[in-house]
Amino acid sequence: MSVIRDVIVVSGASRGLGLALAKQLAQPQRLIISLARNNPHELATHCQAVQASHQFIHADLALTQGCMHAIQQLQQLLANHQHAQSFWLVNNAGTVAPMAQSHQLDDPYLVSHALQLNLGSLISLSASFLAHTPSHADRRILNISSGAGRKAVPGWGVYGATKAAVDHFTHTLALEHTHVRAVALAPGVIDTDMQADIRQTSPDLFPNRERFIDLHQNQQLASAEFTAEHIARYLANETFGTQTVDDIRHYF
Ligand SMILES: NC(=O)c1ccc[n+]([C@@H]2O[C@H](COP(=O)([O-])OP(=O)(O)OC[C@H]3O[C@@H](n4cnc5c(N)ncnc54)[C@H](OP(=O)(O)O)[C@@H]3O)[C@@H](O)[C@H]2O)c1
Repeated sequence: MSVIRDVIVVSGASRGLGLALAKQLAQPQRLIISLARNNPHELATHCQAVQASHQFIHADLALTQGCMHAIQQLQQLLANHQHAQSFWLVNNAGTVAPMAQSHQLDDPYLVSHALQLNLGSLISLSASFLAHTPSHADRRILNISSGAGRKAVPGWGVYGATKAAVDHFTHTLALEHTHVRAVALAPGVIDTDMQADIRQTSPDLFPNRERFIDLHQNQQLASAEFTAEHIARYLANETFGTQTVDDIRHYF
């Protein structure tokens, strides 16, 4: 196995945007550390084919216990690769659930699950990454946000609140760590399982459902591969981090 030059951590890399992005980022001399509940066999096979290294951390990031377990393993892997030149963290794992209007959000478990996955785990992984990567390295943090955090959408109160908080946290992190490049990036609408979940939700819970059915029927959802290709290029660019809150659609 060749010497590792770049260490890239991607949460939620078992499917959807995270899988496509981790595959795009896999190259020789790179270690891809993926996190998810399901083993990303497709990513492991791809990494082998392109001679990238791959380590999988099995974790339920919606649970604080699962997140703590993941962080311990991440710290161990980072400690083993302190000689690498660059360390990039992509906080991508997320959920749009619970889709429901304010008066229907009566399940505290679902609410805390979303807060912990979309926001809590992103904060914990960022903290661990900052503390356990060398300060002289090229360090980048890409937080996958959403347009839903920048414009209120009925039925997405929890989802939008978590993504607005992701934008705010990223702003704060960038102010505190001027040598770390950090961006909260909206990825646009992508044809993944998340969109299938949106189309299957009752309009009583999510009144805008028809719009997303139309986007799908009119083939206006980007493929995960298309979006990942643009995000991978954006992440690797020297200008990464100049705009802390951004939208990849500005670069299509
Ligand atoms: N799709 C869109 O149109 C769209 C639009 C705007 C923003 N986004 C954002 O883009 C990101 C990726 O979305 P996607 O569309 O690719 O979603 P997706 O197809 O539903 O995939 C979600 C990923 O997150 C992981 N994940 C979910 N729950 C988890 C948990 N409890 N612990 C650990 N990992 C978990 C999943 O892996 P496991 O199930 O194996 O755990 C999977 O790899 C999200 O942050 C989302 O908010 C998506």
